[in-house]
Amino acid sequence: MAPCIVSGSANPSLARAVAAACGVDPADWVLERFPDGELRPAVGPVRGQDVYVVQPTGPPVNDNVVELMLSLDACRRAGAARITAVVPYFGYARQDRRLRTGEAIGARVVADALAAAGAQRLVVVDPHTSALESMCHIPVEMLSAVGVLAGALAPLVSTPAVLVAPDLGAVKLAERYSARLGLPVAVVRKTRLSATAVEAEELVGDVTGRSAVIVDDMISTGATIEAAMRVLLTYEADPGFIVAVTHGVLVAGCLDRLAGYPLAHLVLTDSLESATEPRQGLEVASIAPVLADAIGRMHRDEALDDPLGG
Ligand code: R5P
Repeated sequence: MAPCIVSGSANPSLARAVAAACGVDPADWVLERFPDGELRPAVGPVRGQDVYVVQPTGPPVNDNVVELMLSLDACRRAGAARITAVVPYFGYARQDRRLRTGEAIGARVVADALAAAGAQRLVVVDPHTSALESMCHIPVEMLSAVGVLAGALAPLVSTPAVLVAPDLGAVKLAERYSARLGLPVAVVRKTRLSATAVEAEELVGDVTGRSAVIVDDMISTGATIEAAMRVLLTYEADPGFIVAVTHGVLVAGCLDRLAGYPLAHLVLTDSLESATEPRQGLEVASIAPVLADAIGRMHRDEALDDPLGG
């Protein structure tokens, strides 16, 4: 029996591409929205099947999380044999620790909620933190878009070039790009002032006269990338920056914020629908083959590639 792909409403074109790459049609699934905001998803026959619910939890984050939970529960009640939540972009992953007393650990709460709703396994792509795995009671498969993004970057990069981690959290990701592209890594020291503002003044590494490729797991308000570009200009990197990011959350105002900078290419994946709207200078690399390959292997109970190998 083939894997059963259920698409939530967050990114149906990605789910369709994943299903096509798996050689199946998406399962029947409908969503009713009540005037008061309640959601009521319903799934077609899935009894005895190995089900993969594809639902990234980008904006509107809370609706997409609740819709995913209800869809998982619907699959469980419909008798699915095994249920995997495929959440390429995992909203709340940045809340992986308490920054001050009185806060919640949002990533943990959401992971627990998905497991309680029926997920027996979770699939994510380049999560904000690998600590997500240790927060989950269910197995987590961490996939990476570094391979597909590095493939898209290769023809765009002119030498001498340097990969730039826009904050300390992105260093490991930059090292994985470095292993594929054979470029050195520079690091920006960033301080987050608020949800929409960051400060970055220092940079470690040699960027002067080099073409800079900034890499990160996600771009939301654009504050992090903007700050990195400002520092790169101060350190006289070659203008004509390239930015490669796995998850293009792109909240309102993000692209306007970057408009005044010498950004030649913005390369994103299709993990979120927001990233796939055609825009000048924006290139989109699909992660559907990565997800389909992983689903095929899980379905056949085969090992997946090393999650941190790119
Ligand atoms: C933070 O550590 C993340 O890796 C991203 O750098 C950050 O979340 C991007 O958000 P924004 O675009 O709002 O700066």
